[in-house]
Amino acid sequence: MFKKTLVTALAVSALALSACGASDSGSGTDDGITMGFAQVGAESGWRTANTKSIQEAAETAGVDLKFSDAQQKQENQIKAIRSYIQQKVDVIAFSPVVESGWDTVLKEARDADIPVILTDRAVDSADTSLYQTFLGSDFVEEGKKAGDWLVQDSAATEGPVNIVELQGTTGAAPAIDRKEGFEAAITADPDLTIVQSQTGDFTRSGGKQVMEAFLKNTPDIDVVYAHNDDMGLGAIEAIEAAGKVPGVDIKIITVDAVKDGMTALSEGRINYIVECNPLLGEQLMELAEKVVAGEEVPERVVTEETAFTPEQAKEVLASREY
Ligand code: AHR
Repeated sequence: MFKKTLVTALAVSALALSACGASDSGSGTDDGITMGFAQVGAESGWRTANTKSIQEAAETAGVDLKFSDAQQKQENQIKAIRSYIQQKVDVIAFSPVVESGWDTVLKEARDADIPVILTDRAVDSADTSLYQTFLGSDFVEEGKKAGDWLVQDSAATEGPVNIVELQGTTGAAPAIDRKEGFEAAITADPDLTIVQSQTGDFTRSGGKQVMEAFLKNTPDIDVVYAHNDDMGLGAIEAIEAAGKVPGVDIKIITVDAVKDGMTALSEGRINYIVECNPLLGEQLMELAEKVVAGEEVPERVVTEETAFTPEQAKEVLASREY
C-alpha cells in the first residue's frame, strides 16, 4: 500500500501538462507535496465552488497544485492523470466524470507508485486498493432525503403525483445514486410516480432544454426532481416561459444548495433543497499529506450535509459561503 511505502516526496519533472485546461498554481514550497488534480469541468455552481475550495486549500497548505479541467469528458481526465504520472507528482486526486472505466489508468498510477485519492465522486472498480480513500458525499442518502420530503409533503394530497426527473450526467455516481435513493424513498407512497426521466448533464441549459420537452409532451406535471440546483434553475426558466408558476403549479426539489439555488428557494420558486457540500479542499489536502507521508487514512470520508426548506433558506442565505 502506498500509505505504508511512500515517505519521500518525488521531484517534479519539467514535462508540460498536455491535459485540457491544465494549470499550475505554483503555490508549493520546496518541502511541500505536489498534487495532480483532474477536475470534472465547470458545469455547475457547485463545481465552481469545489474548484475554488481545492485551489485555495492547496495554497494555504503549501501544496503545489497541478490542476486540469476535463470539460466533462472522461478521455480528458485519463489524459490528465497520465500526464501527472509522467510528471511524477506525489499524489493524484480526481473527481471521476463517470463511475466506470478507470482500472487501466489507476493501475498505471499504482505501477508508478503514485497514490490516488477519489474526491466527490466514486469509481465502480472492484479493486478498491487502486485508490487510498474516497472523500465526498453520500449521494444515495441525498436522493433519499429528497424522496422522503416529497412523501411527507404529498401525504395530505389525494390522487396521483406525477414527477419528472432531471438526471445528472449519465453514468456519473451522483446521477446513479441520487436516482436510486429517491426511487427507494418514494415507494412509501404508491401515488408518487416518475413519469419522465432524462439527463440534463448537470447544466442549467440542459435542465431548461429537457424541461421544455417534458412540458410539451407530458400532461399534468406536479413535481420536478432535479439532481442539482443548476438543472432545477433551468427548469424554472422553462416553467415560467410556459406560463406556469414554479414552486406553486409545479413543485421543485433539487440537490446542492448553492447561492442561486438557495435564493430561488427563499423566494418559493424551489420547494426543497438537499445540501451537497462542495467545500472539500481542506480535508483533501489533509488526506493527501497523510497518504504521501505513509500514514493510515480511512477508506471512506463522508461529508456532513443537511437540507433546507424556504424558511430555512431565508435564515442562512446571507451567510452561505458558496
Ligand atoms: O458530483 C457532484 C455534482 O456534480 C453536483 O451535485 C453537481 O452540481 C455537479 O455538477
